[in-house]
Amino acid sequence: MVSLRFLLCFLFVSSAYATIVSHDGRAITIDGHRRVLLSGSIHYPRSTPEMWPDLIKKGKEGGLDAIETYVFWNAHEPTRRQYDFSGKLDLIRFLKTIQDEGLYGVLRIGPYACAEWNYGGFPVWLHNMPGMVFRTTNKSFMDEMQNFTTMIVDMVKKEKLFASQGGPIILAQIENEYGNVMGPYGESGKAYIKWCANMAQSLDVGVPWIMCQQNDAPQPMLNTCNGFYCDNFVPNNPNTPKMWTENWTGWFKQWGGKNPHRTTEDVAFSVARFFQRGGTFNNYYMYHGGTNFDRTAGGPYITTSYDYDSPLDEYGNLNQPKYGHLKQLHDVLHSMERTLTYGNISTIDFGNSASATIYKTEEGSSCFFGNGNEKSDATISFQGESYVVPAWSVTILPDCKNEAYNTAKITTQTSMMVKKPNEAEDTPSTLKWSWRPENVDNFILKGKGDSTQTQLFDQKVVTNDQSDYLWYMTTVKFKKRDLFLGKSMSLRVNSTAHALHAFVNGKHIGNQHAENGKFNYVFEKDVKFKSGRNVIALLSITVGLANYGAFFESKPAGITGPIFITGRNGDETIVKDLSAHKWSYKTGLNGFENQFFRTESMSKWSVESVPFNRSMTWYKATFKAPLGNDPVVVDLMGLGKGTAWVNGNNIGRFWPAFISSENGCDAKCNYRGAYHAEKCLTNCGEPTQRWYHVPRSFLNGEGDNTLVLFEEMGGNPSLVSFQTTRVGSVCANVYENKIIELSCDRKPISAVKFASFGNPYGNCGSFEKGTCESSNNTVDILTQECVGKEKCSIDVSTKKFGEPDCSGAARKLAVEVIC
Ligand code: GAL
Repeated sequence: MVSLRFLLCFLFVSSAYATIVSHDGRAITIDGHRRVLLSGSIHYPRSTPEMWPDLIKKGKEGGLDAIETYVFWNAHEPTRRQYDFSGKLDLIRFLKTIQDEGLYGVLRIGPYACAEWNYGGFPVWLHNMPGMVFRTTNKSFMDEMQNFTTMIVDMVKKEKLFASQGGPIILAQIENEYGNVMGPYGESGKAYIKWCANMAQSLDVGVPWIMCQQNDAPQPMLNTCNGFYCDNFVPNNPNTPKMWTENWTGWFKQWGGKNPHRTTEDVAFSVARFFQRGGTFNNYYMYHGGTNFDRTAGGPYITTSYDYDSPLDEYGNLNQPKYGHLKQLHDVLHSMERTLTYGNISTIDFGNSASATIYKTEEGSSCFFGNGNEKSDATISFQGESYVVPAWSVTILPDCKNEAYNTAKITTQTSMMVKKPNEAEDTPSTLKWSWRPENVDNFILKGKGDSTQTQLFDQKVVTNDQSDYLWYMTTVKFKKRDLFLGKSMSLRVNSTAHALHAFVNGKHIGNQHAENGKFNYVFEKDVKFKSGRNVIALLSITVGLANYGAFFESKPAGITGPIFITGRNGDETIVKDLSAHKWSYKTGLNGFENQFFRTESMSKWSVESVPFNRSMTWYKATFKAPLGNDPVVVDLMGLGKGTAWVNGNNIGRFWPAFISSENGCDAKCNYRGAYHAEKCLTNCGEPTQRWYHVPRSFLNGEGDNTLVLFEEMGGNPSLVSFQTTRVGSVCANVYENKIIELSCDRKPISAVKFASFGNPYGNCGSFEKGTCESSNNTVDILTQECVGKEKCSIDVSTKKFGEPDCSGAARKLAVEVIC
């Protein structure tokens, strides 16, 4: 008897604490059920722990089953064997937040991440180990990779976070998209992938491992797809379900670039198409992009904002209609889980890129009608009914009869975000600044650093990436009658510095930065050298280290030379090569070392004659936190380039002086046809990034807050202001017989700005009445139903709005309300 009770108890405990995750060619199976899984990427260090619960909850409300993240090695092990899991880096807390919300987790350990993250997530000390080559059968590399991966797995196991232990994590990843770059690694690359698979497998996590974009993934690794479309993807093993680890919801941004947009219709189309063609797991990369705080942006040139045009914007607001339209899609797909993962599949090809896919079980069937044609709508006849499927869209019919969803028909509101001035009490409209110079005299006048070498070194090698800044300094002596002197002379630097400032004898002779993605350029300036000793000081600045490509770890950064002085006398040119001169090096800048960004450091700041357009200058101001809990941004318009801190928290690099080019934007943006990163750009001719996120948790709600700016190039801080971002107005534009919900995101709707039922046209913010319109007062009806409420649900019907005569064409409601 006792033993039976013990046995029952044991069975109960073990089933309550372990989740069995397995798979077959159809799907991931969790505790005996094949699943349709929708997942979204949220990278923990790109937001703050205070933001995590809300972001993850919004993911769940948006219909996600799982949250995915990479693990960022260089953030956790900034110095070899010294680890950091505090604050934004508290991986375990992040995973537990996912668990608390009842979602699954997908843990992409890598430990190569890519992710537009500094150096792809690799620590720079790793590169500086003797004989090191990344991502191949290099003993030192494999040892370090195994060490870090094992440590992460052990930490996660200790907290019982793998599904096999009753935790949320259902999948783990090793490496990342190695298949895309493995050619140049030859046979060693193939051996490395086998080693990765064995190493991962030996860690015994009890859930499947994935290897994305790896079509030679050894069993039992699951190879998965990344891209804008993955419906054509076929895994390398019939027992591997069709999985999509990165469905890019938008794209990242680079300094000098524009704002990328991927339309809602096209993201939805790609997902529906993927499930039409047998997909079972779709992860949005990104679901929340967030912010590259501090020096975490990769690149070179990845911006501080990593908004990505994802369903949750950088600050965590709903990006509508993307968020809502995808939520509806998730709900429909989930409702079909059984037929999709167990049903027999048959397809009908109607030609002209139109097709129907039928999933059939004994209980019922579900259908997808797809139209991949970019131009023409398709009329599909199916079981005696006729259906119009718009160009570049998929219609989903959970019962194969009634259209429940079409990817191109958006019935979710569009939200227009606005920025509001800081409404904190007694905050003056302009900030009161104090300033102090960055002390560069030792370098530009004396050329004195910490170490000397008769060689030009790659910046990473010298700095270990402890700073963006590296001084390269040398002295050149000319005799009184030196042939060079008196001629027209110049300094010529072959540079791979992302940005460069040059000084000769204490004088700033110029600066330059890489343009249009060309990180290899020549800096050349006329200079007057004097007889005797001349000091050349070059300040090289990195703006995010490379994160992608075969052997990306050895892409040069800094001033790798050669460096020449040239003298010209008529046709005669004399060249002096300084490359093997004695170079003195100094990593970092004074103000960083002495932590000028700390709020306590008060001495030596002056409120007198605050300079404008002065390079190498520190600015400081105090401000009150904006009232309420809307996300906060700081507008840095007027500044050049540098770094910003709020209450000592580094909010990232800024560079509002970098203006994107005038052309290449497409406000109209046709969602039909394959998306690519240059399609549907906005923000032409504007600063690539003007506003910078200040998470609420960085602010003191009451009392003073401090903003510190380090300005490298020269700028004008007088326009800097704190603002909040929130929904300004909300629009819908839907055909009759639909229900539409309008919501101001927890704020009341204050007025109806536009409403017309008939054939209105235009876009949110610029709707116009058409040629037919209902005689009922649409504005009045909506005012009654919506104003004063946080949300309202409207039945778009002739019963409610009347029957305008639109010559038989379908009638629409267009509405814009103010929040
Ligand atoms: C993929 C990579 C991701 C990210 C993405 C672009 O190739 O796996 O980490 O970099 O591209 O955003």
